[in-house]
Amino acid sequence: ALRDNTVIIVLGASGDLAKKKTYPALFGLFRMGFLPKGVKIVGYARTKMDNAEYLKRITSYIKNVDDDEGKAKLEEFKQLSTYVSGGYEDGESFDKLNQYLQEIESGYQSKERNRLFYLALPPSVFIPVAKNLKQHCYSDTKGSINRVIVEKPFGKDLESCRELLRSIKEHWTEDETFRIDHYLGKEMVKNLLVLRFANVAMNAAWDKNSISNVQITFKEPFGTEGRGGYFDEFGIIRDILQNHLLQVLSILAMERPVSFSAEDIRDEKVKVLRAIPPVEREDTLLGQYVAANGKPGYLDDDTVPPNSVCPTFTATTLWIHNPRWEGVPFILKAGKALNEAKVEIRIQFKDVTQGIFKDISRNELVIRIQPAEAVYLKLNAKTPGLYTRAFPTEMDLTYKRRFLDAHIPEAYESLILDALKGDHSNFVRDDELDVAWKIFTPILHWIEGRSGQVPRPVSYPYGSRGPKELEAFIQKYGYKRGTEG
Ligand code: BG6
Repeated sequence: ALRDNTVIIVLGASGDLAKKKTYPALFGLFRMGFLPKGVKIVGYARTKMDNAEYLKRITSYIKNVDDDEGKAKLEEFKQLSTYVSGGYEDGESFDKLNQYLQEIESGYQSKERNRLFYLALPPSVFIPVAKNLKQHCYSDTKGSINRVIVEKPFGKDLESCRELLRSIKEHWTEDETFRIDHYLGKEMVKNLLVLRFANVAMNAAWDKNSISNVQITFKEPFGTEGRGGYFDEFGIIRDILQNHLLQVLSILAMERPVSFSAEDIRDEKVKVLRAIPPVEREDTLLGQYVAANGKPGYLDDDTVPPNSVCPTFTATTLWIHNPRWEGVPFILKAGKALNEAKVEIRIQFKDVTQGIFKDISRNELVIRIQPAEAVYLKLNAKTPGLYTRAFPTEMDLTYKRRFLDAHIPEAYESLILDALKGDHSNFVRDDELDVAWKIFTPILHWIEGRSGQVPRPVSYPYGSRGPKELEAFIQKYGYKRGTEG
């Protein structure tokens, strides 16, 4: 349940994440009436500015408030928001923050002092901030709750991730820590549990007997544009596959949890991930975009080192060694600077036994995560008329058409609300991270040249569907294009 009188402290309040995601989500929740009674929001960052300047900034982060009701809510939201500046490394700054929080809390009736710290910070200061918060800003009056929200990058490989987790655990328990993978807050990812476990029909076909191959695809139509410095250090596998797509895969492939409790769900996710061996080189295609269609190539980005071989595109196939999935390829694909924005799961079923029908398309279940959320099943039906001929068609659940007035929440709205309630179901547990890194660390080390040679990514034009080698790659794993319906 929500705790009244909670103070939400956004550390890194003037950074990119706070601007693009945290503040808009906090306002979204406030507007819908989902923040706790008596909530206060305190921004904290190094930048020196007064409250008026801070309020001007957060107002500029919050877009699309055109109606009178929204404008009135925004005024109210500004009244509960204030700002403190300070450093990340020194204890005095955090003592000052603590005094400030105590001042705010002295206005509360109850004795509880609930604090939710949101670390919208660069990884270089995660550890000192986690420590300083615990030592200087932890509220220990009886019944109070302290929580921290942290977000990737959780290290760069297995070893650095373990080191980071260990340092944070010195100060914060697993129960107090909420690790965001924002894909877990997306409506269609949350829908997977319902689609899978509330439908006998789906569940019956959910294995190697019926399914030929699975693709989980992430496409973005823009390049690194200005974020090249960060990106080049991480690459597309760490940016998208190791976290977002692997999380989707784990929910798609896990066994039925005993209950929907956070621990039961995460136990099953870990179990299925543990059945996946590290990614093989032969199962991996790497790409990097080059200038085309009037757009710059990756290496033309000033923030990217010249001659970088960092992949901006990857397709890689994972195998799950358990009785349900043995032999079914799970193809994860992600790329920047492609022809469209799209994230989807495409489950391709096997061919029907030959004999009666020739050349008919396979069934496919597509779950489109974004944009335009949808679930559709490609199937064959009889062409209407006085003869029997099959044609490919679709059963289509497009959310915009089916749920006319539904508000689909933003991922961060959903996750911040969960953290306020103390629900860990959609946050990443420590052992999930560990096993996710085990799957990807060897290939990452190889890409970075630790075994001698550095693999060169193939190039693909900005705005294209990806490297030309991709089609042959997915067909190698059994994907068959249908006859167009
Ligand atoms: C982030 C990545 O985690 O996810 C970005 O660092 C990427 O590179 C973003 O653009 C995509 O998120 P969404 O919600 O827009 O699909």
